[in-house]
Amino acid sequence: MKGIIVAALSLTLATVAAADSGVALVKGTTPESKVSGTVTFHDMKGGLHVSVQLTGLTPGDHAFHIHEFGSCEDVGKAAGSHYNPLSSPHGFLPKDGMHKAHSGDMGNILAAADGSASLEVMLPRVTLAEGKYTVAGRAVIVHEKKDDFSQPVGNAGGRVGCGIIVITGGK
Ligand code: CU
Ligand code: ZN
Repeated sequence: MKGIIVAALSLTLATVAAADSGVALVKGTTPESKVSGTVTFHDMKGGLHVSVQLTGLTPGDHAFHIHEFGSCEDVGKAAGSHYNPLSSPHGFLPKDGMHKAHSGDMGNILAAADGSASLEVMLPRVTLAEGKYTVAGRAVIVHEKKDDFSQPVGNAGGRVGCGIIVITGGK
């Protein structure tokens, strides 16, 4: 009996430690929105590596953030505001760091004339695995407009795409 409990416990710990890759499947927040795509996440030494492939956007820059809550309801508003564990001002996390930017501030993603867009970004200090600044279970939001980095949230307008960040596995 004791052996079974120990085995079950080590299995749980191993699962948590290996939980370093994840995905968010992005969909339009309304039936009219054609936004769709995939965001993948990998915990790495320098931070959380985020890789994005989207289609169905209007050409140009679109603000791209991790928002606080893992819900896409109510045209994306249920995701709450930018993930901001340290009550920092709005900014660009890779450049400004966690004290001078929201931890969900990934800047902009640029859509080409055909509506497709891709982005690779490294987010310092945040993780997918369990920890103080985990983003698992939160939401990625693609905005209607460009993030102009003004306060309080970059003036990016409505939320056209949304996906919930889920852990998919280990290394
Ligand atoms: Cu946002
Ligand atoms: Zn922000």
